[in-house]
Amino acid sequence: MSFVFATCRAGSEPSLKADVARWHEGRLTPAFMRPQLITWKVRGQPPDSGFVLDSPFARVSGLSLGLCASAAELIDKLRATGERSLCLHAFPRETPEDGVPPETWRRIDARQAPIISALTDAGFQLRPASSLAHGDLVLDLLFDDADDAAFFAGLHRHHDGAHRQPGGLPRLTLPPHAPSRAWLKVEQALAWRGWDTPELQGRLALDLGCAPGGASLALLDRGMRVTGVDTGDMDEAVLRHDSGAFRHLRTPVGRLDPARLPAGVSLILCDINLAPPEVLPHIERLQRALRAPRLILTLKLNIPALERRLDEFVDFIRGFSPAPVHVTQLAANRREVCVAAGV
Ligand SMILES: C[S@@+](CC[C@H](N)C(=O)[O-])C[C@H]1O[C@@H](n2cnc3c(N)ncnc32)[C@H](O)[C@@H]1O
Repeated sequence: MSFVFATCRAGSEPSLKADVARWHEGRLTPAFMRPQLITWKVRGQPPDSGFVLDSPFARVSGLSLGLCASAAELIDKLRATGERSLCLHAFPRETPEDGVPPETWRRIDARQAPIISALTDAGFQLRPASSLAHGDLVLDLLFDDADDAAFFAGLHRHHDGAHRQPGGLPRLTLPPHAPSRAWLKVEQALAWRGWDTPELQGRLALDLGCAPGGASLALLDRGMRVTGVDTGDMDEAVLRHDSGAFRHLRTPVGRLDPARLPAGVSLILCDINLAPPEVLPHIERLQRALRAPRLILTLKLNIPALERRLDEFVDFIRGFSPAPVHVTQLAANRREVCVAAGV
C-alpha cells in the first residue's frame, strides 16, 4: 500500500484537499491528517519518486514514508526504497506565518543530528542541501514540537518549481523594523526561485502596491533601486533608506504610464489588494511595455470563487510573462498565492 504527502500553510488544508479531490479523484483518498500535513492513500499503481501534487497549496509533496519512532525505523523504510543518495530536508511541521524562530531551528538541528549520523553509518550518502539540483532525491523529515514525538518522513525529487529550502522555509523571521509582512513574502519568494543573490544589486524593481513598504525595504536592503507605486503612505524606513534609492509614485496602477518609468526594470513586484481579475490586466499592460525578465505577483484569493479560478489566472499570466511561470503558497502568504515568472 502506498501513500503520498503534502505540507501546506495553516488554514489551507481544505483548499489543498479540494485540489487533490478535483485532480486525483478515485486515485488518492485522504488518510493521515495533522495541521499543515496531509497524506493520501494511493489506489492502483504506486507512484514513482518523481511524484508531485500539482496544487499550489502543496508547499512540499512527494511519497510518504509515514511516521518513524526512531532513526532505525527510518533506515528500514529507506532501505526498502532502494535509494542510497539523498539530500536531507528537516523542518518543523507547524510553521508560524511570521517565520520559524531561531530556537525552533536549533531544536530541529538537534533532532536531525543523530539521524544524520545513523543514516551515514548505515551507508546512505547525504548530499548538502546547498548543492540541490533538478532530479535530486530529497528526504523530508518533519518534526513536531514534542522532542520525543515520532517524526514524519517523505521523499520527493527536486524540480524547477519546487522550494529549495527545507519545507520551503528560509531561515528568516519578520524583522522588527519591517513596515509590513510583505518583507517576509518577498524574501521567501526570492529564496524559492533562487533569486536571493548579489546579482540583484544595482538593478531596478517596480513595486506595485508598495505601501507601507515591507517589500520595498527588503529589496533596498538587497541593494536594488526601487520605484514604488501606491496611493498610500510609505514608511519612513523606506523613504529615508540610506541608499536613497527609493522613488514613490503616488498614483493608482491604472493611471501609471510606463513612459514615466526609468528604463531597464528587472523585476516587477505586485502585492495590490485587488482581486486578480481587476489587477492582472494592469500588470499585463505594464509588462508588455516594460518586458521585465522577472515577475513576483501576489494573487489575492480572498473568496473560494477566486481560489477556484486560480488556474485561469495563472494561464492568463503565462500569456504575457517570461517563462517559466510557477505558483506556490509561501509560508508567509495568507489567503493568497505567489506567482513567479522568469529565470
Ligand atoms: C497588501 S498592501 C501592500 C503591502 C506592500 N507590498 C508592502 O510591502 O508593505 C496592498 C496595497 O495595495 C494598494 N493598492 C490598492 N489598490 C491600488 C491601486 N489601484 N493602485 C496602486 N496601489 C493600490 C493599497 O494602497 C495597499 O497599500
